[in-house]
Amino acid sequence: MASNGAVSDGKTHKFNPHFTEAVINATGPKATPRVRQLTSSLIRHLHDFARENELTVDEWMSGVELLNEAGRMSDDRRNEGQLVCDVLGLESLVDEITYKLTSDAADEPTATAILGPFWRKDAPIRDMGDTIVSGIEGKGDRTWMHGSVSDFKTGQPISGAVLDVWHTAPNGLYEQQDSGQEDMNLRGRFTTGEDGKYNFYCLRPVPYPIPFDGPAGKILQALDRHPMRPAHIHFILSAPGYKPIVTQIFDRNSKYIEDDAVFAVKDSLLVDFKPIQGDEKADLELPYDFRMATFEDAKQQSALTGTTEQSASL
Ligand code: BEZ
Ligand code: FE
Repeated sequence: MASNGAVSDGKTHKFNPHFTEAVINATGPKATPRVRQLTSSLIRHLHDFARENELTVDEWMSGVELLNEAGRMSDDRRNEGQLVCDVLGLESLVDEITYKLTSDAADEPTATAILGPFWRKDAPIRDMGDTIVSGIEGKGDRTWMHGSVSDFKTGQPISGAVLDVWHTAPNGLYEQQDSGQEDMNLRGRFTTGEDGKYNFYCLRPVPYPIPFDGPAGKILQALDRHPMRPAHIHFILSAPGYKPIVTQIFDRNSKYIEDDAVFAVKDSLLVDFKPIQGDEKADLELPYDFRMATFEDAKQQSALTGTTEQSASL
């Protein structure tokens, strides 16, 4: 047998039927079981993809160039590889698989949604009732967001829960995309007290385009798709003893709710902004309650849904 798995048995095959197996079998004994599983499956699917579509060298090279360009564009402010995955629906799918325990039902933990590339660590720690708006006062619809963080099973308030929040400015840009905005504008971290309640001031978000000046944009253009996301606010919730929740809430009345460029909208995450009277700092209010699961409850639900927690790193 040749090193590429070709067998000279006199039979004619369109493509060498042993090639994929030979590539998979080249994996050495020191590969971990998870790495072996993931790469074997990836090789199989990639090879099937190439055979099914009779992929040409030029087409394959275009894909390689796209990946290379994504790498060149990426740094700690921009993650083009993640954007490419987003427009192909992969981050949303992986989110669904990883957090399968969450659901749309009202008595379940808050549903998750993708992190996206614009989260920043070390957002300012703010006091409850503060605003996350800094340097763009007078722009946008001023909103008072409030609600509670509770245990989804017992309904008990969760004390010490941290809400890490971020959203775009009225011009549709996150502060790190826009030199005209103050550092950490529209970001903040809030910690609940004994009553599990939270409240802060923000703006009503607007729909915005994901960056489309790189490979992700090329893919969208080739697929005749727009780059727009519906208006949303991002959150990471964490609390001692509870499984963290990465999520987004979406303005029910926003354009693009039905056709988010990155496929992240879930029904249970749709919210309503309502007019508010008597608050000189806000014109709208946004009530929303979060529900978290303890690690133990999360594990039990994962077992029920058949989700396994394994990981591999190269
Ligand atoms: C975001 O919501 O911030 C986002 C998600 C995916 C791609 C680009 C942006
Ligand atoms: Fe976003």
